Amino acid sequence: MNIYIEQQAENSLNAVINECNANENKLFLLCDENTLHYCLPKISGIIPALPDGNKIVIPSGEKHKDLATCNLIWQTLLQQQADTHSVLICLGGGVVCDTGGFSAATFKRGIRHILIPTTLMAQVDAAIGDKTGVNFQNTKNQIGVYAPAYAICIMSRFLKTLPQNEILSGFAEMLKHGLIADGAYWQKLAGIARYSDILNMQLIQKSVHIKTKICGTDGKDENERHQLNFGHTIGHALESFSFTHLQSPLTHGHAVALGCIAESYLSAQKGLISMSEADNIRQVFNKWFSVPDISAENYPVIADYMQYDKKRHNQHLNCTLLTGIGHCIINQDVGRNEIFDALAYCLQ
Ligand SMILES: NC(=O)c1ccc[n+]([C@@H]2O[C@H](COP(=O)([O-])OP(=O)(O)OC[C@H]3O[C@@H](n4cnc5c(N)ncnc54)[C@H](O)[C@@H]3O)[C@@H](O)[C@H]2O)c1
Ligand SMILES: [Zn+2]
Repeated sequence: MNIYIEQQAENSLNAVINECNANENKLFLLCDENTLHYCLPKISGIIPALPDGNKIVIPSGEKHKDLATCNLIWQTLLQQQADTHSVLICLGGGVVCDTGGFSAATFKRGIRHILIPTTLMAQVDAAIGDKTGVNFQNTKNQIGVYAPAYAICIMSRFLKTLPQNEILSGFAEMLKHGLIADGAYWQKLAGIARYSDILNMQLIQKSVHIKTKICGTDGKDENERHQLNFGHTIGHALESFSFTHLQSPLTHGHAVALGCIAESYLSAQKGLISMSEADNIRQVFNKWFSVPDISAENYPVIADYMQYDKKRHNQHLNCTLLTGIGHCIINQDVGRNEIFDALAYCLQ
């Protein structure tokens, strides 16, 4: 993976594009309406000016991460006579990176794509690790391929216009990175007192390093990569539940934050960490993430969402749990009653 960060990204982007040997007719840009407005002007000096026909603007939001959007991208590529020498630059959050990466990887059996992630979530998570894809029939990421980006260029300049809930969504994944892989990093993040201190390129770089290292040992998500699922078994269920049952749905990161609290409790219940460690983790997440109003009658519904989750394993649910601050263990069985207790712990 060629990952360039900050000044290095600014210096390399043009060179990377030149290195592709794609003249401007072969260069395409994918963005959504927000990144067209907020982000493109911030790199206009460092990428070549493109003909309007080579700019593809898609509507923003998760509901457009689908095959209809891929159709639009493929149609433009075809109309503009893109060929195997073409390059698709994806400028946006996880939706643009996932959809653009997939569309590029499948057009004429694969053209190159360059990712310029513009949300914290995309910089520390979605753009890293080669997974591309779209949602299908209301289920997330059902159609996709592993496709490495030709280059990933991460720059903090984009984050200034990102709404606070989107920043916090990415921050939850950073906190998770500390918990599963690096105790000192966790301590550093846990000590952040001001919101503005989250947007620190050294911290982002640390998360990129942790995710890259874990993906490097298990490109196809068969074992070690499951470490990254910490907080996600319960987090995904809470996220799905929130879409149908809460007035304002949780962001992915907010749900993952609650999932990390719940799964830390499970780790303590199994004697893998101490209860005071779990309490401390809850305190850190609660500083940034509110507790939604979900009563105990809903716990069975939330647990049912987990049964459909891909991490299910026989009758039990399969979780990644902590074995210390900065250490985790994958493939741990968790029973339904244990889940109810963990939900009570994170939602109280
Ligand atoms: N491939 C992977 O490994 C992986 C990992 C994690 C998440 N994901 C995927 O990423 C997606 C979520 O990504 P996301 O959280 O970035 O959401 P997103 O792409 O929907 O972006 C969030 C919102 O912010 C806007 N935006 C983007 N950059 C902006 C900027 N700089 N200033 C102002 N507004 C901006 C977008 O238009 C959008 O409205 C999900 O589909 C998820 O499945 C993929
Ligand atoms: Zn996640």
